[in-house]
Amino acid sequence: MSAERLAIDGGTPVRTSLLPYARQDISDDDVAAVAAALRSDWLTTGPRVPAFEEALATATGCRHAVAFSSGTAALHGAMASLGLARGSEVLTTPMTFAATANAILYVGAEPRFADVNSGSLLLDPDAVAAALAPATRALVAVDYAGHPADYAALRVVADAAPGGPLPIVADAAHSLGATRGGRPVGTLADLTVLSLHPAKIMTTGEGGAVLTEDRDRAAFLRRFRNHGIGTELAARSDWTYAMVQLGYNYRLTDVMAALGMSQLARLDGFLASRRRLAARYRAAFAGHWALDVQAVAPDADPSWHLFVVLLRLDRLHVDRAAVYHALRAEGIGVNVHYIPVHRHSFYRQRYPDLEGRFPVAEAAYERLLTLPLFSAMTDRDVDDVVAAVDKVTAAYRAG
Ligand SMILES: Cc1ncc(COP(=O)(O)O)c(C=O)c1O
Repeated sequence: MSAERLAIDGGTPVRTSLLPYARQDISDDDVAAVAAALRSDWLTTGPRVPAFEEALATATGCRHAVAFSSGTAALHGAMASLGLARGSEVLTTPMTFAATANAILYVGAEPRFADVNSGSLLLDPDAVAAALAPATRALVAVDYAGHPADYAALRVVADAAPGGPLPIVADAAHSLGATRGGRPVGTLADLTVLSLHPAKIMTTGEGGAVLTEDRDRAAFLRRFRNHGIGTELAARSDWTYAMVQLGYNYRLTDVMAALGMSQLARLDGFLASRRRLAARYRAAFAGHWALDVQAVAPDADPSWHLFVVLLRLDRLHVDRAAVYHALRAEGIGVNVHYIPVHRHSFYRQRYPDLEGRFPVAEAAYERLLTLPLFSAMTDRDVDDVVAAVDKVTAAYRAG
């Protein structure tokens, strides 16, 4: 049987308009909440921000949530809150967005990388153990694609580190609402960083948060995001304020917090929808001849920020780029997450000897594709993606 003619070769595309890989889900209630904030006395940080923080803390089972203007700003705050000495080393994964490693550099520390597990693409605790050095002061794990890292195993490694028990930061930009071992994200690491970017599980436009059990750390983070000033504008009784540490303007606004509050009320629905759609993909791709899906640990319930597949390139006569372009021509907005951090030119120049040092992440990168997944997608959309993947891989089958 000859393969169907691909859209990239002039055939009929599976979809006539591009299905994006991610998309925010904004309801009329969200719009009304933002409009009400715009009509209120507060555009910047007012009463809606602490209300949102309290709701976020309740939703994640964590004592304190501190909102930031982005996930990157929240990562910066999280790293600063560790009080690392200049030149300290922080171990993280190369399979992440550059912001994870950049935040380590922001505070004068040095990112060091450890390889990922080949099935889950999560930081491999054995690789972390092997990469620990006397200068290692913290670990930053990433809940890649929404699957919580293996914090229990990382904890064992961090506790036995030569530098003493190391703090573990969860970059949970992808994993709000996920659980591991029955425990929710927000309670798995010493501190947890969320992103509320529009592509993520829920959004405030741009936004982020740090979750922590520690009251003093939360107070540090509130000052850090507000120029190092102890009292926020809405809580001041006169003109006085004390700037007590170096800080930044990383505040979330009341307008954003209004959207966050409204989106948080919809979080369970977002998660249910992502889990249903991911299950449909996984059923369709089970045992697929041309690709593998991300391995899910038996004790994990991911939030499915991303649905990633790994092409079996030995069974295709083209590379990932050809499959990517062919799928885009079919109307499927595939993407790639991630170019391993150490392969970006900035990191290559700073750390020129890292190429080839993380073979699992580097080999996975050559095979990776992110398929569309967002809460408002329909089962039909998933079926279109599956049909397009089948069509393209069949046309490029080797032999
Ligand atoms: C793993 C990871 N960490 C951090 C960030 C940064 O978050 P933000 O875009 O909210 O600054 C992102 C966002 O893409 C991310 O995917």
